[in-house]
This record gives sequence, C-alpha cells and structure tokens, in this order.
Amino acid sequence: RNVLSVTSECVPLVKTGGLADVAGALPAAVADHGWDMRTLLPAYTGLIKKAAARKVLWQSDDLFGGPARVLMGTAGGNVILLLDAPHLYDREGGPYGNPTDFSDNPQRFAALSFVAAEIARTGLSDGWTPEVVHAHDWQAGLVATYLKYGPPCDVGTVMTVHNIAFQGLAPAAMLGTLGLPIDAFNAEELEYWGQISTLKAGLVHADAITTVSPTYAAELMRPEFGMGLEGVLSARASVLSGVLNGIDMDVWNPASDPEIIPYSAKSLTGKKKNRTALMSEFGLSSVEGPLAIVVSRLTSQKGMDLIANAAEDFVANGGALAILGSGDPQIEDALRLLARNHPGKVGLRIGYDEALSHRMFAGGDVVLVPSRFEPCGLTQLYGLRYGTVPVVAATGGLADSVVNYNVAAAQMGVATGFQFHPIDQLSFTQCLRGVIDAFSRTSDWTRLQKRGMNQNLGWDASSATYATLYERVTK
Ligand code: ADP
Ligand code: GLC
Repeated sequence: RNVLSVTSECVPLVKTGGLADVAGALPAAVADHGWDMRTLLPAYTGLIKKAAARKVLWQSDDLFGGPARVLMGTAGGNVILLLDAPHLYDREGGPYGNPTDFSDNPQRFAALSFVAAEIARTGLSDGWTPEVVHAHDWQAGLVATYLKYGPPCDVGTVMTVHNIAFQGLAPAAMLGTLGLPIDAFNAEELEYWGQISTLKAGLVHADAITTVSPTYAAELMRPEFGMGLEGVLSARASVLSGVLNGIDMDVWNPASDPEIIPYSAKSLTGKKKNRTALMSEFGLSSVEGPLAIVVSRLTSQKGMDLIANAAEDFVANGGALAILGSGDPQIEDALRLLARNHPGKVGLRIGYDEALSHRMFAGGDVVLVPSRFEPCGLTQLYGLRYGTVPVVAATGGLADSVVNYNVAAAQMGVATGFQFHPIDQLSFTQCLRGVIDAFSRTSDWTRLQKRGMNQNLGWDASSATYATLYERVTK
C-alpha cells in the first residue's frame, strides 16, 4: 500500500526545525508496517542535484503561473518527489523567505498541496498511486480541500499539526488565484476571521487529524493553546489524536556518533571527556554544578526569554551554561548580555550548527527546554538518549516524554528528568535549584542518566499507530 507524505521540509535536504526530522524519519518507520511512503517536497534551489532527481513522473504547463514537473530522487534512503516549479521555488534564501516571508507563500504552498491532490487523483506516470495522503502543517493544508472540490477520488487524508501557531493565512481575494471554490469560503470551511486559513481547511476536510503528542492534542482544544482554532478542533475531537514523535536512533547514538568521543549507558567515561571538550569549546571554566545546554530556536515559544533570568541564579549556585541558537533579535541580545556578564560561566553561539549540537548533547549534564508550548519537542529526546538529563516545562510532548523526578517517581525509580509548572520564571528557577541538588548526589544522578539512555525513543510504537490510522482512512 502507498502513502504520499506532503511536506515543506525534510532531512537531509532542507531543515528549519523538527518537522524536517519527522518527515525524514517517517518513511522508514511506516515501511516496517507495509506502507510504501514517498515524500513530496518543493524543489528549492539545489535540491534536484542533491537528491539526484532525474525521472519525470508528472508535469504541467501551468502551475500557478509557470511550468512544473515532479522528479523522483532519493535522500537519506527515502524516495523523494521534488516539485520543480522554478517560478515558485528556485530562489535565494530559506524555504519560507529571505529572511522574512516571501509574499507569494500562499501560492507556493497551495501549489504543493494542489500537486499532491493531482498525484492522489491520477497517480504518477510510473504507476504509483497513493491510497492515503499524509499532509504536514499549513503548507500542505489544502490537499484535502482540493480533493474534495475536484473530480471524485477515494484517497484517504491525514492532516498532522506540528505547530498550531502557523495557520497559513492568506487574503480572501486570493481564492481565485489559488484555484479555490468560492463556495468553500465560509466559517465551516476555509474562512478564518475574514481570511483564508489553509491549516483550518486541512483540519476541517481531512479524514483524520493528528498532532505530535497526546498532551498537545488535548491542549489544542483549549483557548490557552488552540490559538483560535480550538473550536474547530473540538468539533473534530472524534478524529483527533496525538502520536508522539520518535527520533532516529542511528543518527542520535552516543555509541557511534562521529562528532563525539563515543560512550554508552554501560560506561559514561567518554561522556566526561566530551564535557571537558565542550567546556573548552565554549570557553567555560570548571564548575561544581551541572553544565546545562540549550539548542533551540531563540523564540518566546521556546521560553528563551526565561533563560536569561533563570541563568543568574543557576550560575550563582554553581552551574554553567552553553547556548546554541538563533532567532528573535531581542532574545539574542539578552543572551549576549548574559554571556558578557558571566565570562567562563555562560557561553553563547548564535547560529545554526548541526555538528555542534551533537557535541553539546554529548558534553552537557542537562538540557533546558522551558517552552511555553511544545507540540512534541525533539531536543529533550536527544537529551535522554545522550544521558543529558532534560529539564522541561510540563506541556505538550515535553510532559509526555519526560518522567518528572518527583517524590513518587524517585521512590519508584522511574524518573528520567525534571518538569516544572506553571511555566514561569519562579518555577523554572526553583526547578533548577532541585536539579543542582540532585546533581550533587552522584549515584542517584547516574541512575537518572542511564534510565533515559536505556529508553526506546525510536519510532516503533508511533509508526504502528500511524499504520493503523492509514488503514482506518483508506476507502
Ligand atoms: P521546533 O521544530 O519547534 O524548532 P523541535 O525540538 O521539534 O523544535 O526541533 C528542533 C530541531 O532543530 C532539533 O533537531 C534541534 O536539534 C534542531 N536545532 C534547533 N536549533 C538549532 C541550532 N541552532 N543548531 C543546530 N540544531 C538546531
Ligand atoms: C514543530 C513543533 C515541535 C515538534 C516538531 C516536529 O516544529 O514546534 O514541538 O517537535 O514540529 O513534530
């Protein structure tokens, strides 16, 4: 059976966040359950070469103002279908902008969804036709709408929400340009406060909706987290579920990671060496307390504004901090100031650096993830895998993937990290005091580390859930 995954990012070709990791891992995960997944992705500049994509499997003379083709290639062991439409995708910058959003993003991603629907309806020229289309986020939000309003087609649709904050808004005047029927522009379908929302369209029209953790699925139906779409989601609660992301256990494996001195749960000696190396890479002097790391987009979603203040107390109590990230200029400035005020205690790298992130997970004692909301989150999972104990806000996937070191969990010997709630300065700071205290009890701490390292954080359970879901929506 065949399933078409539709996404705007996918490792190893293009990544701005966790969506790329998940899209890149899904095909192998569901293959174990008999599903042949191909991934449709825009052919951003350079990708055709990177994926060695040559075989033309679909074409059109006019896709929203220019010619387009679908070329088949491979990347990371997966079959990639690149949507080659130079007028939409062949340009300088990131997948969404350079650096601010491209003004024609509504057309760029509507085109991706449109072609996905065409492939679903007519198949590819090599005979491959999907039974199910799996659409990710607002960029693929219109797939089910194009299917509904086109010639009849019995393909099943799954819509996955990776982040409700991005809703794919476009002016109503674009309905015609995007090839959407005026009939669909009503409050029950595409219309959202006078605009088009491609995410809402997907939520309304897909056969099944998933998000990337069970807790986020529940949170999404509440005004505090639903960002205006809570009503739409509550109305569809019977087809909404949360499926926790896994990680690629081969790429993220401290025993074979080429970036680091290898180690495993059996012996953490190598981890100490990685710690020393990381401290010197960040210009940090040795400390009594834990070395905390942060690898993140620097945004308020990620609670990065909480870091600067919490760090004062943490450093005063014997901790050190190494930060890697980029994002909001104000947060970057606050962290620069923090690092300047604490030489040898707080180190900062502004930027995006995959290799360095591996060295940080290997060298850190704890990883801080104080997100205000977090659909799933991957860095706490990398932390668990590398014996770098996660300290997380109790929300979304963070709440689902870390067992809090509370009295009961400590007594039962099941804790894997630390959670704090409510998500504010006070409880984050207080939680970090508990972390410093626990870190000083060495044998307890080692047990905490090893428990996380021995956990199965891969895709086994969740890929089975997706496979069952694909079967359910198959018509
Ligand atoms: P989100 O997708 O919301 O940013 P996730 O935790 O799901 O959050 O995924 C973030 C991914 O991006 C992880 O793989 C993380 O390691 C990576 N990442 C984030 N910032 C950086 C950075 N500055 N350098 C390297 N990797 C980063
Ligand atoms: C989004 C979310 C993040 C999640 C990722 C992959 O970027 O912000 O929490 O882990 O998607 O599903």
